[in-house]
Amino acid sequence: MPGDGIGKVVMDEALRVLDAAGFDAAYINGDIGWEFWCREGNALPARTMLLLEKYKVGLFGAITSKPKEEAAAELAPELRDKGFIYASPIVGMRQLFNLDICIRPCRSYKGNPLNFIRRGAKGEVEEPMVDVVIFRQNTEGLYCGVEWSHPEGIVYDALQSHPSFRKNFGKVPKEEIAVSTRIFTKKATERILRAAFDYADKNGYRSVTLCEKPNVIRETSGMMYRMAGEMQKQYSHIELWNTNIDAQMMWLTKNPEDYGVIVAGNMFGDIVSDGFAGLIGGLGFACSANIGEDVSVFEPTHGSAPKYAGYQVSIVNPIAMIESACMMLEYLGEKKISDRIRKAIAAVILEGMVRTYDMMKMKGSPDAIRNGAASTREMGEEIIKKVTRDK
Ligand code: NAI
Ligand code: MG
Repeated sequence: MPGDGIGKVVMDEALRVLDAAGFDAAYINGDIGWEFWCREGNALPARTMLLLEKYKVGLFGAITSKPKEEAAAELAPELRDKGFIYASPIVGMRQLFNLDICIRPCRSYKGNPLNFIRRGAKGEVEEPMVDVVIFRQNTEGLYCGVEWSHPEGIVYDALQSHPSFRKNFGKVPKEEIAVSTRIFTKKATERILRAAFDYADKNGYRSVTLCEKPNVIRETSGMMYRMAGEMQKQYSHIELWNTNIDAQMMWLTKNPEDYGVIVAGNMFGDIVSDGFAGLIGGLGFACSANIGEDVSVFEPTHGSAPKYAGYQVSIVNPIAMIESACMMLEYLGEKKISDRIRKAIAAVILEGMVRTYDMMKMKGSPDAIRNGAASTREMGEEIIKKVTRDK
Protein backbone atom coordinates (compact mmCIF):
# COMPACT_ATOMS: atom_id res chain seq x y z
CA MET A 1 0.00 0.00 0.00
CA PRO A 2 2.27 2.78 -1.23
CA GLY A 3 -0.34 5.50 -0.63
CA ASP A 4 0.26 9.12 -1.56
CA GLY A 5 3.10 11.53 -2.18
CA ILE A 6 6.48 10.36 -0.97
CA GLY A 7 4.84 7.16 0.30
CA LYS A 8 5.07 5.88 -3.29
CA VAL A 9 8.70 6.96 -3.65
CA VAL A 10 9.99 5.38 -0.45
CA MET A 11 7.94 2.22 -1.01
CA ASP A 12 9.58 1.76 -4.38
CA GLU A 13 13.02 2.06 -2.78
CA ALA A 14 12.17 -0.36 0.03
CA LEU A 15 10.97 -3.02 -2.42
CA ARG A 16 14.17 -2.69 -4.43
CA VAL A 17 16.21 -3.20 -1.26
CA LEU A 18 14.10 -6.22 -0.23
CA ASP A 19 14.67 -7.77 -3.66
CA ALA A 20 18.40 -7.10 -3.57
CA ALA A 21 18.65 -8.66 -0.10
CA GLY A 22 17.10 -11.86 -1.39
CA PHE A 23 13.61 -11.63 0.05
CA ASP A 24 11.50 -13.78 -2.20
CA ALA A 25 7.95 -12.47 -2.22
CA ALA A 26 5.14 -11.48 -4.52
CA TYR A 27 3.77 -8.02 -3.85
CA ILE A 28 0.12 -7.26 -4.40
CA ASN A 29 -0.71 -3.61 -4.75
CA GLY A 30 -3.33 -2.22 -2.37
CA ASP A 31 -5.15 1.02 -3.20
CA ILE A 32 -5.24 3.50 -0.34
CA GLY A 33 -5.20 7.25 0.16
CA TRP A 34 -6.28 10.56 -1.25
CA GLU A 35 -6.72 9.54 -4.87
CA PHE A 36 -9.33 6.96 -3.82
CA TRP A 37 -11.09 9.38 -1.53
CA CYS A 38 -11.45 11.87 -4.38
CA ARG A 39 -12.46 9.29 -6.97
CA GLU A 40 -14.51 6.82 -4.92
CA GLY A 41 -15.37 8.64 -1.71
CA ASN A 42 -13.35 6.11 0.31
CA ALA A 43 -9.64 6.43 1.16
CA LEU A 44 -9.67 2.82 2.29
CA PRO A 45 -11.44 0.83 -0.45
CA ALA A 46 -13.09 -2.43 0.58
CA ARG A 47 -11.00 -4.35 -1.98
CA THR A 48 -7.83 -3.30 -0.13
CA MET A 49 -9.24 -4.51 3.17
CA LEU A 50 -10.12 -7.83 1.55
CA LEU A 51 -6.52 -8.14 0.35
CA LEU A 52 -5.22 -7.51 3.85
CA GLU A 53 -7.67 -9.97 5.32
CA LYS A 54 -6.49 -12.57 2.87
CA TYR A 55 -2.73 -12.01 2.94
CA LYS A 56 -2.37 -10.80 6.57
CA VAL A 57 0.78 -8.75 6.10
CA GLY A 58 0.81 -5.18 4.83
CA LEU A 59 3.60 -2.79 3.98
CA PHE A 60 2.31 0.75 3.96
CA GLY A 61 3.94 3.98 2.74
CA ALA A 62 2.05 7.10 3.79
CA ILE A 63 -1.16 8.87 2.92
CA THR A 64 -2.34 12.44 2.66
CA SER A 65 -5.26 13.42 4.79
CA LYS A 66 -7.05 16.74 5.16
CA PRO A 67 -9.70 18.26 7.41
CA LYS A 68 -13.30 17.24 6.71
CA GLU A 69 -14.36 20.41 4.85
CA GLU A 70 -11.33 20.44 2.54
CA ALA A 71 -11.78 16.75 1.90
CA ALA A 72 -15.41 17.26 0.90
CA ALA A 73 -14.42 20.02 -1.53
CA GLU A 74 -11.98 17.74 -3.38
CA LEU A 75 -14.46 14.91 -3.97
CA ALA A 76 -15.29 14.15 -7.60
CA PRO A 77 -18.26 16.37 -8.59
CA GLU A 78 -20.63 13.40 -8.98
CA LEU A 79 -19.90 12.30 -5.39
CA ARG A 80 -20.44 15.66 -3.70
CA ASP A 81 -23.31 16.09 -1.24
CA LYS A 82 -23.97 12.36 -1.24
CA GLY A 83 -23.07 11.94 2.41
CA PHE A 84 -19.44 10.86 2.01
CA ILE A 85 -17.43 11.85 5.09
CA TYR A 86 -13.66 11.67 5.09
CA ALA A 87 -12.08 9.32 7.63
CA SER A 88 -8.39 8.55 8.04
CA PRO A 89 -7.62 5.21 6.39
CA ILE A 90 -4.86 4.48 8.92
CA VAL A 91 -7.16 4.85 11.88
CA GLY A 92 -9.74 2.83 9.93
CA MET A 93 -7.26 0.04 9.27
CA ARG A 94 -6.16 -0.07 12.92
CA GLN A 95 -9.76 -0.34 14.09
CA LEU A 96 -10.98 -2.79 11.46
CA PHE A 97 -8.17 -5.29 12.06
CA ASN A 98 -7.67 -4.37 15.70
CA LEU A 99 -3.98 -3.57 15.15
CA ASP A 100 -3.59 -2.88 18.83
CA ILE A 101 0.15 -3.25 19.33
CA CYS A 102 2.27 -0.49 17.88
CA ILE A 103 6.04 -1.01 18.02
CA ARG A 104 8.39 1.89 17.37
CA PRO A 105 12.09 1.15 17.69
CA CYS A 106 14.41 4.15 18.10
CA ARG A 107 18.03 3.09 17.66
CA SER A 108 20.85 5.45 16.84
CA TYR A 109 23.23 4.57 14.05
CA LYS A 110 26.89 5.37 14.60
CA GLY A 111 27.96 8.26 12.43
CA ASN A 112 24.51 9.73 11.90
CA PRO A 113 25.01 13.50 12.05
CA LEU A 114 21.45 13.78 13.40
CA ASN A 115 22.26 11.82 16.56
CA PHE A 116 21.54 13.58 19.82
CA ILE A 117 24.62 14.91 21.62
CA ARG A 118 24.97 16.46 25.07
CA ARG A 119 27.66 17.85 27.34
CA GLY A 120 29.27 15.75 30.06
CA ALA A 121 30.31 16.97 33.52
CA LYS A 122 33.57 18.49 32.22
CA GLY A 123 31.98 20.12 29.22
CA GLU A 124 32.97 17.31 26.88
CA VAL A 125 30.65 16.25 24.09
CA GLU A 126 28.86 12.96 24.65
CA GLU A 127 26.90 11.04 22.06
CA PRO A 128 24.79 8.46 23.90
CA MET A 129 23.72 5.52 21.74
CA VAL A 130 19.96 5.16 22.04
CA ASP A 131 18.48 1.67 21.83
CA VAL A 132 14.87 2.01 22.82
CA VAL A 133 11.79 0.15 21.61
CA ILE A 134 8.46 1.77 22.37
CA PHE A 135 5.29 -0.32 22.69
CA ARG A 136 2.26 1.90 22.24
CA GLN A 137 -1.31 0.72 22.75
CA ASN A 138 -2.78 1.57 19.39
CA THR A 139 -6.56 1.35 19.59
CA GLU A 140 -7.86 2.67 22.91
CA GLY A 141 -7.31 5.53 25.31
CA LEU A 142 -7.72 9.13 24.25
CA TYR A 143 -7.72 8.24 20.55
CA CYS A 144 -10.73 5.94 20.64
CA GLY A 145 -13.12 8.66 19.49
CA VAL A 146 -15.62 8.44 22.34
CA GLU A 147 -16.13 12.17 22.78
CA TRP A 148 -18.77 14.87 22.97
CA SER A 149 -19.07 18.59 22.61
CA HIS A 150 -22.00 20.01 24.50
CA PRO A 151 -22.92 16.70 26.19
CA GLU A 152 -26.61 16.26 26.93
CA GLY A 153 -29.09 13.77 28.28
CA ILE A 154 -27.78 10.59 29.85
CA VAL A 155 -24.19 11.51 28.99
CA TYR A 156 -24.44 14.73 30.93
CA ASP A 157 -26.30 13.00 33.75
CA ALA A 158 -23.57 10.38 33.99
CA LEU A 159 -20.95 13.11 34.26
CA GLN A 160 -22.99 14.84 36.95
CA SER A 161 -23.03 11.61 38.94
CA HIS A 162 -19.28 11.95 39.51
CA PRO A 163 -18.30 14.08 42.53
CA SER A 164 -15.24 15.54 40.77
CA PHE A 165 -17.41 16.64 37.87
CA ARG A 166 -19.98 18.23 40.16
CA LYS A 167 -17.27 20.01 42.09
CA ASN A 168 -15.26 21.32 39.14
CA PHE A 169 -17.75 21.62 36.28
CA GLY A 170 -21.18 21.28 37.85
CA LYS A 171 -22.09 24.92 37.23
CA VAL A 172 -20.49 25.28 33.78
CA PRO A 173 -23.09 25.64 30.98
CA LYS A 174 -23.30 22.40 28.95
CA GLU A 175 -22.56 24.16 25.69
CA GLU A 176 -19.21 25.24 27.10
CA ILE A 177 -18.11 21.67 27.78
CA ALA A 178 -16.19 19.26 25.55
CA VAL A 179 -15.35 15.76 26.77
CA SER A 180 -12.92 13.19 25.36
CA THR A 181 -12.86 9.91 27.22
CA ARG A 182 -9.84 7.78 27.99
CA ILE A 183 -10.94 4.15 28.02
CA PHE A 184 -8.56 1.25 28.72
CA THR A 185 -9.63 -2.40 28.71
CA LYS A 186 -7.90 -5.17 30.62
CA LYS A 187 -7.53 -7.30 27.50
CA ALA A 188 -5.77 -4.66 25.40
CA THR A 189 -3.67 -3.50 28.36
CA GLU A 190 -2.61 -7.08 29.04
CA ARG A 191 -1.71 -7.54 25.35
CA ILE A 192 0.49 -4.45 25.09
CA LEU A 193 2.23 -5.21 28.40
CA ARG A 194 2.75 -8.83 27.39
CA ALA A 195 4.18 -7.79 24.02
CA ALA A 196 6.61 -5.41 25.75
CA PHE A 197 7.82 -7.94 28.33
CA ASP A 198 8.13 -10.72 25.76
CA TYR A 199 10.13 -8.48 23.46
CA ALA A 200 12.45 -7.43 26.30
CA ASP A 201 12.84 -11.07 27.25
CA LYS A 202 13.61 -12.34 23.74
CA ASN A 203 15.93 -9.49 22.84
CA GLY A 204 17.99 -9.20 26.01
CA TYR A 205 16.67 -5.88 27.36
CA ARG A 206 17.03 -5.66 31.12
CA SER A 207 14.19 -3.22 31.78
CA VAL A 208 10.66 -2.41 30.80
CA THR A 209 9.58 1.15 31.59
CA LEU A 210 5.90 1.87 32.00
CA CYS A 211 5.47 5.51 30.97
CA GLU A 212 2.08 6.74 32.19
CA LYS A 213 0.79 8.98 35.01
CA PRO A 214 -0.87 6.73 37.60
CA ASN A 215 -0.57 9.26 40.41
CA VAL A 216 -3.03 11.57 38.61
CA ILE A 217 -4.90 9.44 36.07
CA ARG A 218 -5.81 6.87 38.65
CA GLU A 219 -8.23 4.60 36.83
CA THR A 220 -6.63 4.05 33.40
CA SER A 221 -2.94 4.68 34.09
CA GLY A 222 -3.54 3.13 37.52
CA MET A 223 -4.91 -0.09 36.05
CA MET A 224 -1.98 -0.36 33.67
CA TYR A 225 0.43 0.30 36.54
CA ARG A 226 -1.04 -2.47 38.68
CA MET A 227 -1.17 -4.93 35.80
CA ALA A 228 2.46 -4.20 34.86
CA GLY A 229 3.51 -4.88 38.45
CA GLU A 230 1.72 -8.22 38.38
CA MET A 231 3.16 -9.19 35.02
CA GLN A 232 6.71 -8.35 36.00
CA LYS A 233 6.55 -11.23 38.51
CA GLN A 234 6.63 -13.61 35.54
CA TYR A 235 9.83 -11.98 34.24
CA SER A 236 12.05 -11.89 37.31
CA HIS A 237 15.19 -11.07 35.27
CA ILE A 238 13.59 -7.93 33.80
CA GLU A 239 13.19 -4.83 35.95
CA LEU A 240 10.00 -2.79 35.79
CA TRP A 241 10.58 0.95 35.92
CA ASN A 242 7.74 3.43 36.21
CA THR A 243 8.06 6.95 34.84
CA ASN A 244 5.51 9.72 34.41
CA ILE A 245 5.15 10.94 30.85
CA ASP A 246 6.04 14.54 31.73
CA ALA A 247 9.17 13.60 33.65
CA GLN A 248 10.10 11.09 30.95
CA MET A 249 10.13 13.85 28.33
CA MET A 250 12.50 15.80 30.56
CA TRP A 251 14.78 12.82 31.18
CA LEU A 252 14.77 12.01 27.49
CA THR A 253 17.78 14.20 26.85
CA LYS A 254 19.47 13.51 30.17
CA ASN A 255 19.96 9.76 30.03
CA PRO A 256 18.23 8.25 26.97
CA GLU A 257 20.78 5.41 26.86
CA ASP A 258 19.45 4.03 30.16
CA TYR A 259 16.08 3.02 28.71
CA GLY A 260 15.30 -0.22 26.90
CA VAL A 261 11.72 -1.25 26.27
CA ILE A 262 9.10 1.40 27.01
CA VAL A 263 5.38 0.67 27.17
CA ALA A 264 2.53 3.17 27.29
CA GLY A 265 -1.08 3.85 26.42
CA ASN A 266 -2.07 5.34 23.09
CA MET A 267 -1.41 9.04 23.52
CA PHE A 268 1.58 8.87 25.84
CA GLY A 269 3.07 6.20 23.57
CA ASP A 270 2.62 8.53 20.62
CA ILE A 271 4.31 11.37 22.48
CA VAL A 272 7.21 9.44 23.96
CA SER A 273 7.97 7.67 20.67
CA ASP A 274 8.19 10.97 18.78
CA GLY A 275 10.44 12.26 21.56
CA PHE A 276 12.86 9.36 21.24
CA ALA A 277 12.67 9.45 17.43
CA GLY A 278 13.98 13.00 17.60
CA LEU A 279 17.15 11.71 19.28
CA ILE A 280 17.99 9.27 16.50
CA GLY A 281 17.39 11.38 13.41
CA GLY A 282 13.70 12.20 13.22
CA LEU A 283 11.19 11.29 10.57
CA GLY A 284 13.73 9.98 8.07
CA PHE A 285 14.55 7.21 10.57
CA ALA A 286 11.35 6.51 12.49
CA CYS A 287 9.83 3.14 11.61
CA SER A 288 6.89 1.26 13.08
CA ALA A 289 4.84 -1.92 13.17
CA ASN A 290 1.11 -2.27 13.89
CA ILE A 291 0.48 -5.80 15.08
CA GLY A 292 -2.94 -7.37 15.48
CA GLU A 293 -3.95 -10.90 16.37
CA ASP A 294 -4.44 -11.74 12.70
CA VAL A 295 -3.17 -8.91 10.47
CA SER A 296 -0.06 -6.73 10.73
CA VAL A 297 0.92 -3.55 8.93
CA PHE A 298 4.39 -2.02 8.78
CA GLU A 299 4.92 1.68 8.04
CA PRO A 300 7.25 4.61 8.52
CA THR A 301 6.03 7.22 11.01
CA HIS A 302 6.25 10.08 8.52
CA GLY A 303 3.45 11.27 6.28
CA SER A 304 3.23 11.89 2.56
CA ALA A 305 5.26 15.16 2.69
CA PRO A 306 3.30 16.74 -0.18
CA LYS A 307 5.79 19.56 -0.60
CA TYR A 308 8.43 17.04 -1.73
CA ALA A 309 6.11 14.73 -3.58
CA GLY A 310 6.31 16.36 -7.00
CA TYR A 311 10.11 16.51 -7.22
CA GLN A 312 11.55 15.19 -10.45
CA VAL A 313 14.43 13.80 -8.41
CA SER A 314 13.15 12.84 -4.98
CA ILE A 315 15.21 14.04 -2.00
CA VAL A 316 13.50 12.34 0.93
CA ASN A 317 15.18 9.78 3.14
CA PRO A 318 13.98 6.21 2.43
CA ILE A 319 15.55 4.70 5.57
CA ALA A 320 12.42 4.89 7.76
CA MET A 321 10.51 2.95 5.09
CA ILE A 322 13.32 0.43 4.60
CA GLU A 323 13.56 -0.08 8.37
CA SER A 324 9.80 -0.65 8.49
CA ALA A 325 10.29 -3.33 5.84
CA CYS A 326 12.97 -4.86 8.11
CA MET A 327 10.41 -5.04 10.91
CA MET A 328 8.13 -6.88 8.52
CA LEU A 329 10.93 -9.32 7.69
CA GLU A 330 11.48 -10.05 11.38
CA TYR A 331 7.78 -10.59 11.87
CA LEU A 332 7.89 -13.10 9.03
CA GLY A 333 10.85 -14.91 10.55
CA GLU A 334 13.33 -13.60 7.97
CA LYS A 335 15.74 -12.21 10.53
CA LYS A 336 18.83 -13.00 8.49
CA ILE A 337 17.68 -10.87 5.60
CA SER A 338 16.63 -8.05 7.87
CA ASP A 339 20.00 -8.16 9.68
CA ARG A 340 21.74 -7.98 6.31
CA ILE A 341 19.75 -4.86 5.35
CA ARG A 342 20.30 -3.19 8.73
CA LYS A 343 24.02 -3.89 8.49
CA ALA A 344 24.06 -2.27 5.06
CA ILE A 345 22.22 0.81 6.35
CA ALA A 346 24.65 1.04 9.28
CA ALA A 347 27.63 0.85 6.91
CA VAL A 348 26.27 3.56 4.62
CA ILE A 349 25.62 5.88 7.56
CA LEU A 350 29.00 5.21 9.17
CA GLU A 351 30.85 5.88 5.91
CA GLY A 352 28.97 9.13 5.54
CA MET A 353 29.56 9.46 1.81
CA VAL A 354 25.90 9.27 0.84
CA ARG A 355 23.51 11.40 2.89
CA THR A 356 20.03 12.68 2.14
CA TYR A 357 19.24 16.37 2.72
CA ASP A 358 17.87 15.80 6.23
CA MET A 359 21.12 14.11 7.28
CA MET A 360 23.03 17.12 5.97
CA LYS A 361 20.78 19.45 7.96
CA MET A 362 19.74 21.23 4.80
CA LYS A 363 16.42 22.84 4.08
CA GLY A 364 14.49 20.58 1.76
CA SER A 365 14.52 22.06 -1.75
CA PRO A 366 15.40 20.95 -5.29
CA ASP A 367 18.76 22.65 -4.69
CA ALA A 368 19.64 20.07 -2.06
CA ILE A 369 21.01 17.70 -4.69
CA ARG A 370 23.16 20.43 -6.26
CA ASN A 371 24.48 21.20 -2.79
CA GLY A 372 25.67 17.65 -2.30
CA ALA A 373 22.71 15.79 -0.82
CA ALA A 374 21.98 12.31 -2.11
CA SER A 375 18.65 11.63 -3.77
CA THR A 376 16.23 9.02 -2.46
CA ARG A 377 17.36 6.70 -5.26
CA GLU A 378 21.07 7.24 -4.55
CA MET A 379 20.53 6.36 -0.89
CA GLY A 380 18.62 3.25 -1.92
CA GLU A 381 21.32 2.32 -4.43
CA GLU A 382 24.08 2.70 -1.85
CA ILE A 383 22.23 0.43 0.58
CA ILE A 384 21.67 -2.09 -2.22
CA LYS A 385 25.38 -1.99 -3.09
CA LYS A 386 26.28 -2.90 0.48
CA VAL A 387 23.55 -5.51 0.75
CA THR A 388 24.65 -7.35 -2.39
CA ARG A 389 28.34 -7.13 -1.51
CA ASP A 390 27.48 -8.79 1.77
CA LYS A 391 25.37 -11.62 0.39
P1 NAI B 1 5.10 14.62 7.00
O1 NAI B 1 5.65 13.55 7.84
O2 NAI B 1 4.55 14.23 5.70
O3 NAI B 1 6.22 15.70 6.73
C1 NAI B 1 6.73 16.59 7.70
C2 NAI B 1 8.12 17.04 7.33
O4 NAI B 1 9.02 16.01 7.75
C3 NAI B 1 8.38 17.16 5.85
O5 NAI B 1 8.12 18.42 5.37
C4 NAI B 1 9.84 16.84 5.78
O6 NAI B 1 10.59 17.99 6.14
C5 NAI B 1 10.04 15.82 6.82
N1 NAI B 1 10.02 14.44 6.31
C6 NAI B 1 8.97 13.58 6.31
N2 NAI B 1 9.36 12.39 5.82
C7 NAI B 1 10.65 12.52 5.49
C8 NAI B 1 11.60 11.64 4.91
N3 NAI B 1 11.31 10.38 4.59
N4 NAI B 1 12.85 12.10 4.69
C9 NAI B 1 13.17 13.36 5.01
N5 NAI B 1 12.34 14.24 5.55
C10 NAI B 1 11.07 13.81 5.80
O7 NAI B 1 3.98 15.37 7.87
P2 NAI B 1 3.03 16.60 7.47
O8 NAI B 1 3.70 17.54 6.54
O9 NAI B 1 2.51 17.10 8.74
O10 NAI B 1 1.80 15.93 6.72
C11 NAI B 1 1.73 15.76 5.32
C12 NAI B 1 0.57 14.84 5.00
O11 NAI B 1 0.84 13.54 5.49
C13 NAI B 1 -0.74 15.29 5.64
O12 NAI B 1 -1.76 15.11 4.72
C14 NAI B 1 -0.87 14.36 6.82
O13 NAI B 1 -2.22 14.15 7.16
C15 NAI B 1 -0.25 13.10 6.30
N6 NAI B 1 0.32 12.21 7.34
C16 NAI B 1 0.23 10.88 7.10
C17 NAI B 1 0.80 9.97 7.94
C18 NAI B 1 0.76 8.56 7.57
O14 NAI B 1 0.42 8.23 6.46
N7 NAI B 1 1.12 7.66 8.45
C19 NAI B 1 1.49 10.41 9.18
C20 NAI B 1 1.61 11.84 9.30
C21 NAI B 1 1.02 12.70 8.42
MG1 MG C 1 2.55 10.86 15.93
